[in-house]
Amino acid sequence: MRKLIAGNWKMNGLASSLAEIEALKGLTGEATCDIVVCPPFTLLEKAAERAKDSVVIIGAQDCHPQISGAYTGDVSAQMLVEAGARFVILGHSERRVFHNESDAVVSTKVAAAHEAGLTAIICVGETRAERDDGKVIEVVGGQLRGSIPAGATSSNVAIAYEPVWAIGTGLVPTIDQIEEIHSSIRQTLEERLGEDGRRVRILYGGSVKASNAADIFGATNVDGALVGGASLKAVEFAGIISAAA
Ligand code: PGA
Repeated sequence: MRKLIAGNWKMNGLASSLAEIEALKGLTGEATCDIVVCPPFTLLEKAAERAKDSVVIIGAQDCHPQISGAYTGDVSAQMLVEAGARFVILGHSERRVFHNESDAVVSTKVAAAHEAGLTAIICVGETRAERDDGKVIEVVGGQLRGSIPAGATSSNVAIAYEPVWAIGTGLVPTIDQIEEIHSSIRQTLEERLGEDGRRVRILYGGSVKASNAADIFGATNVDGALVGGASLKAVEFAGIISAAA
């Protein structure tokens, strides 16, 4: 399966950061995987201009479930498409925690993204306490079933398994732990989407770096990565991309 490596800049990046996209283009050449960079809303259009005619695809970090309306401060999926995005990250744990996003809300956002023609990267993952309680499979399975809307296919959805305790901490699950949960995600996807569930890309996210990427990509059912901190600098991000090749 062609791997998908997505960088999530979160609330980082001013116009000067667009130089990283420029640098990434030079470092990646003919990529053998899909490369997505998700800058903040304010940089989407300029980022898409910089990425034009290159292997770098631009994505966003959230969208509203509605196409338009009285939703102060929100941005619709259609607006993202117009700004040049082709992907959108939805249900990231930081959205689930800081903006109280439930599975039901995530599911409506994914449906809106699909309606606008975007591919959604749906994030799921357990907290440390849930792992310690032995509830990982149950929690992640529940998030997954609740967050995938009707109409999802392997071409408009990717799943990112991101243990909350591994995000920005430098902590990473063991390869066995990653394989265990990715195989249960695969099973849920097959139950939900039938044979097409085998083709949905399942990304791992949480403290991925150039130095640990090759091990993670070697794991069964790991079809790419969602990268936060290490995506901010083109050289580090390109190191992760080359580990996927
Ligand atoms: P991190 O973040 O790579 O900085 O741990 C990953 C994410 O939140 O998507």
